[in-house]
Amino acid sequence: MPFCVATDGPAAAGKGTISKALAERFGYAHLDTGLLYRAVGAKTLQGMDAVEAAKSLVPEDMVDEDALRAPQVARAASQVAAQHDVRAALVDFQRAFARRDGGAVLDGRDIGTVICPDAEVKLYITASDEVRAERRYLEMRAKGVEITQEEVAKDLAERDRRDESRATAPLVAADDAIVIDTTALSIEEAVALAVQKVQAVLDA
Ligand code: DC
Repeated sequence: MPFCVATDGPAAAGKGTISKALAERFGYAHLDTGLLYRAVGAKTLQGMDAVEAAKSLVPEDMVDEDALRAPQVARAASQVAAQHDVRAALVDFQRAFARRDGGAVLDGRDIGTVICPDAEVKLYITASDEVRAERRYLEMRAKGVEITQEEVAKDLAERDRRDESRATAPLVAADDAIVIDTTALSIEEAVALAVQKVQAVLDA
């Protein structure tokens, strides 16, 4: 039976970690939709047209996750994600994933508002700008990326502004989303809270 958990929120708020943990806990499939936009962004950095890249995307394009996590790819992803035709080309795949048998968790920016507005559970994961910048900085340093915390903070702020202000499917919490602010929570606490929210819907 389909059961969709839509997880949205700004960059580095913890939605990826929470989504992965939810998928594991409940046995659902997980799709990080940011990777789709990152793969399109990566192709534009190689000179390809963004809409063409989105229309011709194949699963292999999402395999090299480390390369797709690079700061310049994140920037390109946020830029291509503002194009209506790019988003339109990626809708059907995401909707089919959301409604697959056995349940699905999708994380992104517009899952609860556009891709799966009738999701059984909608979570909006957020955290303060400072904490998000610090988490992303530590993550990148751990991977050996040469970057300062100021650069990370600037990148995130720029991306948030673009993702929130674009005309098509901007980043916004759905009216019926459960907001989880992870600023003062450990990963374990944030995951436990999200699990509790999903379980409450399953038990209802
Ligand atoms: O979640 P992420 O940081 O990997 O996403 C990279 C960019 O892709 C993000 O800045 C905006 C865009 N994106 C989007 O517009 N809609 C989604 N559902 C997921 C990501």
